[in-house]
Amino acid sequence: MADVNGVFLWYQCFKKTLFIIGALLISCSEVYSLICYCAGHCPSNQPNGSCFARPNSQCFSAVEQVYNPDTGLLEDERTYGCLPPEENGFMQCKGHLVPHQIPKSIACCSKGDWCNKQLKPNTVVRTTTPSPMYQGELMSYNGPYNLIICLASVSVCIAFLAVVVFMICYRLTNQKQSRRGYLDVEKKIIGGEAVKDLIDRSNDTSGSGSGSGITLLVQRTIGKQIEMLESIGRGRFGEVWKARLRDECVAVKVFYTSEEASWSRETDIYKTVLLRHENILGFVAADIRGTGSYTQMLLITDYLAFGSLHDYLKVCVLDLAGMLKLAHSAACGLSHLHVEVLGKQGKPAIAHRDIKSRNILVKRDRTCAIADFGLAVKYKSDTNQLDVAANTRVGTRRYMAPEVLDETLDTSQFEAYRMADMYSFALVLWEIARRCKVNDVVEEYQLPFYDCVPSNPSFEDMKKVVCVDQTRPAIPKYWNSCETMQIISKVMQESWKQNPGARLTALRVKKTLMRLESLHKDEKVV
Ligand SMILES: Nc1ncnc2c1ncn2[C@@H]1O[C@H](COP(=O)(O)OP(=O)(O)OP(=O)(O)O)[C@@H](O)[C@H]1O
Ligand SMILES: [Mg+2]
Repeated sequence: MADVNGVFLWYQCFKKTLFIIGALLISCSEVYSLICYCAGHCPSNQPNGSCFARPNSQCFSAVEQVYNPDTGLLEDERTYGCLPPEENGFMQCKGHLVPHQIPKSIACCSKGDWCNKQLKPNTVVRTTTPSPMYQGELMSYNGPYNLIICLASVSVCIAFLAVVVFMICYRLTNQKQSRRGYLDVEKKIIGGEAVKDLIDRSNDTSGSGSGSGITLLVQRTIGKQIEMLESIGRGRFGEVWKARLRDECVAVKVFYTSEEASWSRETDIYKTVLLRHENILGFVAADIRGTGSYTQMLLITDYLAFGSLHDYLKVCVLDLAGMLKLAHSAACGLSHLHVEVLGKQGKPAIAHRDIKSRNILVKRDRTCAIADFGLAVKYKSDTNQLDVAANTRVGTRRYMAPEVLDETLDTSQFEAYRMADMYSFALVLWEIARRCKVNDVVEEYQLPFYDCVPSNPSFEDMKKVVCVDQTRPAIPKYWNSCETMQIISKVMQESWKQNPGARLTALRVKKTLMRLESLHKDEKVV
């Protein structure tokens, strides 16, 4: 053991001697080299004491606060040594100016050997702290970092808020624009244009026929803009009002609440592709509106000031031209209804099932327009599809064809409905012809079978007259003295035949009356 201690002491003595010799040699050979005091930060394998700073290097004295678990305090821990030349810059020696997570400080010197032994840089002394790390973190947040983080957070929040505000504004602007766009369209469609132009244009663009081009939205808007003026008539299914739609007059049929099926069917028929025709009452819109206690079903159509053909004939006496105009135009309307237009954008054949002078209206130019489609039936030949109204409604008994009255009409055959229409139409022709003045003679207005049945005839009344007795309206004798009246009476007689298949078609009647009208215009017939 004594040997070992002797060797160790000898080794220490030898090392110190070598160091002093080395130091003397270096101080002689390197003019700018420096000896620094070193403690806790000495070059590797070198005990505390001194170190050689390389040329252009400095000595340093550093202090760092470390947590002493025994006292619970932060205490200064000092280190001394030589700075390596590459760390001898401004940054290293000014390091104490930069905030550290753990408080520390450093000071450097190069004025003479051991100069750093006197350097005592200070740190902020803290009394009690639960944890130096924690404290360090607090320091870091309380310093400029805090400010930077705070600023960054505020900036992010502002940016986020700006984005949210921008998005809200954008949405509001968009909504406003689309609302304005809608209002513009509405104004343009309903406000700026006549109702007729609206209907015509919607049909031009869609090419789809009566009313079908008008969107539901526009229809609803029209419904809201209606101002009822006066009641002009009552029928079995509703009350008809003259109303104002902006600056124009329209007719509004307000269906009785029990007549929803009639409203649906009529609306459906009016929206049929290609139905629109000058001799079919012009559809404007259909709407349902709630009045709180009950629902109103509205059908808005063109208002025709002369009213129904029935009303018109009661007060007007016709000349031949006037009669032909009414008869021909009514035949055109019925023919258009009856005809099927084939093709993708085609129109189904439609049978009216309630043709009568009350359901034909008179336009300002004294031509007719067929109205009231609440009972109509549609047919498409390609699919052989027969679309009968889901309706308990029946036609008007006075105008019912014999096969309807005796219930022999084949309800599965569309043609049967068409032929029944022709029977009713023949009665209307008779009503028109009676009001034509021929050789200064004119009949008073009368309903068909006015002289055979009571004012509100029953099925049995009508059946007896039409089916059993096969009675038809009388043809005045003096009509034979006029070529035109002869042809007209022939047309009606051939259209009210007992045998449905023997009746003229609407197309045939239309063509005959068209020829008659042009012959009359050219004064080739009188
Ligand atoms: N578009 C219209 N323009 C002007 N008057 C009309 C119009 N539509 C109907 N009218 C008038 O309103 C009256 C009532 O019509 P409505 O269709 O409700 O009953 P109707 O045809 O007399 O009987 P029914 O209920 O058997 O059809 C008609 O007779 C006609 O005078
Ligand atoms: Mg009617």
